[in-house]
Amino acid sequence: MSQLPLSDFGKHRAALMAKMPTNSVALFPAASELTRSNDTEYAFCQNKNFFYLTGFNEPDALLVLLKGEQGQTESILFSLPKDALHEIWQGRRIGQIKAVQDYGVDASYPIAEIESLIADYLEGKSQVYFGFSDHGFAAQIFSWLKHVNRNIRQGAKTPQHLTDVDPMVAELRLIKTENELALMRQANHISGLAHQRAMQKCQVGKFEYQIEAEILHEFARHGARHPAYASIVAGGDNANILHYTANSDVLNNNELLLIDAGAELAGYAADITRTFPVNGQFTAAQKAIYQLVLDAKNLAIDAIKPGMSFAKLNVLTNAFLTKGLVDLGILTGDLTELISDKKVKEYFIHGLGHWLGLDVHDVGDYHISSDREQLRAFEEGMVMTIEPGIYIPLTDLTVEEKWRGIGVRIEDNIAVTETGFENFTVNSPQTIADIEGLMAENAKSIT
Ligand code: GLY
Ligand code: MN
Ligand code: MN
Repeated sequence: MSQLPLSDFGKHRAALMAKMPTNSVALFPAASELTRSNDTEYAFCQNKNFFYLTGFNEPDALLVLLKGEQGQTESILFSLPKDALHEIWQGRRIGQIKAVQDYGVDASYPIAEIESLIADYLEGKSQVYFGFSDHGFAAQIFSWLKHVNRNIRQGAKTPQHLTDVDPMVAELRLIKTENELALMRQANHISGLAHQRAMQKCQVGKFEYQIEAEILHEFARHGARHPAYASIVAGGDNANILHYTANSDVLNNNELLLIDAGAELAGYAADITRTFPVNGQFTAAQKAIYQLVLDAKNLAIDAIKPGMSFAKLNVLTNAFLTKGLVDLGILTGDLTELISDKKVKEYFIHGLGHWLGLDVHDVGDYHISSDREQLRAFEEGMVMTIEPGIYIPLTDLTVEEKWRGIGVRIEDNIAVTETGFENFTVNSPQTIADIEGLMAENAKSIT
């Protein structure tokens, strides 16, 4: 599958409208183009809630969902109109006829017409739903509500309840359908091929951005035009900068290369990290840290099933990593105390994972407790990353020199099934033997 059937977006709308009370309206703006610099824009990225509910990938559109007094529903898509001149300069538009025919909405109007229709949609409704995180759109809603207010002496009734729709959509997005899971499996497959290619093309003396280019090439070769996020291609000590995206340094002998890169396929993200030696062979110190992180990752993944939680997985992996670091002499002291003091977080400085979906850090409540534990029980259809890491910067003088400059993260994408889990990240090498085996071919095959 390379994209969701358009009818699936209709099902998403229906699921949301089923949760809305009678006599309510929900409004969802599309994203706008973002200027990069004079007359040039960033690659367009649709607002993900809007996309989830429409599958419509044009800027400057608006979805209106209406639920009437008797529970009857209507979906209306406002979008840029067909316009020959604009389409010559900026690209084709779907227009109103195809919006109804192909996207399954009940009606579609040019976006400019919202100004004359909005009062009808708002007037007399008991609740208005919109996303509170978008301040610009919230200001727009208040300005529209003012229109309705103006007619109050003619008997117009202004809605009294404004509700944040983001958590409602997040709950729907958190549980993936079979078709969404199939797309995410495919996004992972493509991303795995790209990580394989990175290992195959890696060579001492190349630049990080040249390996990034190999990854993007492999994504596009398999139908994924864009990465889901800016790829992190971090040689040596750069791996210890968690969100390193400069990708501008040369790759040195005897250093590791950490690559965190995932394709976006028809809106859905993969988020995979692999770490491997630039020259194809781990040093003894690199091997020790790598194996510890790999074992921690697999320990966490094997425990995933409905009812498990990030909080419980953290207990397992933090204890395991702490013991591993004590065995290596990186942490010293009483094991039980080190575990209860969470000392491992000095080296494992981020969370174990996060929800994954249309966004790489996907929406969905984690049920965070007062002591910041993520208590939410996993359910079938959730997809998450598991991504332990150990980071020892060059500047850490508290450890033996051989450990300094090592940063390792390994990240897989996991779906929760009825009885356990499915690991989507299966085709990029991760054992030391498999990585060294694949890279041993490089000297012969580099082009
Ligand atoms: N690529 C971002 C993350 O792993 O969370
Ligand atoms: Mn990642
Ligand atoms: Mn991640």
